[in-house]
Amino acid sequence: MSDDSRPSRTESRTALRTAAVIPAAGRGVRLGPGAPKALRALNGTPMLIHAVRALAASRAVSLVVVVAPPDGAPEVKSLLDAHALPDRTDFLVVPGGESRQESVKLGLDALPPDYDIVLVHDAARPLVPVDTVDAVIQAVREGAPAVVPALPLADTVKEVEPAATPGDPEPVVATPERARLRAVQTPQGFDRTTLVRAHETVTDNVTDDASMVEQLGEQVVVVPGHEEAFKVTRPLDLVLAEAVLARRRLNDGF
Ligand code: C5P
Repeated sequence: MSDDSRPSRTESRTALRTAAVIPAAGRGVRLGPGAPKALRALNGTPMLIHAVRALAASRAVSLVVVVAPPDGAPEVKSLLDAHALPDRTDFLVVPGGESRQESVKLGLDALPPDYDIVLVHDAARPLVPVDTVDAVIQAVREGAPAVVPALPLADTVKEVEPAATPGDPEPVVATPERARLRAVQTPQGFDRTTLVRAHETVTDNVTDDASMVEQLGEQVVVVPGHEEAFKVTRPLDLVLAEAVLARRRLNDGF
């Protein structure tokens, strides 16, 4: 066979199967009292269902693994059964752990062998557009071991010496150059073997999966994120999320 007839690296990687792991086991204390964050409703539909639909909207994603609150797997299973989801996608529910990291690891452990690309997506980012999901998958298919969607920052960021008592003045230690900073979103996309190795090797407490891959010394790349992929964290974010859904409904031809 001549070199020309061999599939290019990109072509051969298009056949790779993609699964999404959605950690949804957090309590969401910053949102105030109530149900676990992922089960709170946005326009009458649980945030988790929005997030599952957002990932399943990508034709490349053929399996979604939802990591439920440790004692909430049956409830999450019936929730998935009760909402319309694409037929071409498989769904699995597993109980989560004490930390986000542990929850993601439990989701990875549940993946069948025939998936080579894994997306990790926060249930708390219910409105990520499918184009962002596809851009992340595409960059992994093109050979990046880890890909994160991210946006430039509007605010200047200060590094401080955190005060022992919340509310006390905090000395500023440094001001990183804003133009070099990015606010990182999800889904983050990975070559599965790399992500599994990261979860087996790195034990530090981290706030995203890509930083574990960085600690392995592997290259992580950033692709453009989207303002609608914001994380629902505080009560005001619920108002913003419902406004985005209302705008989408208007644009969809009502
Ligand atoms: O707490 P934070 O907003 O960073 O959580 C990000 C995501 O991780 C949320 O979707 C949350 O449900 C999930 N998580 C989890 N297991 C935990 C803690 C958080 O699945 N123990």
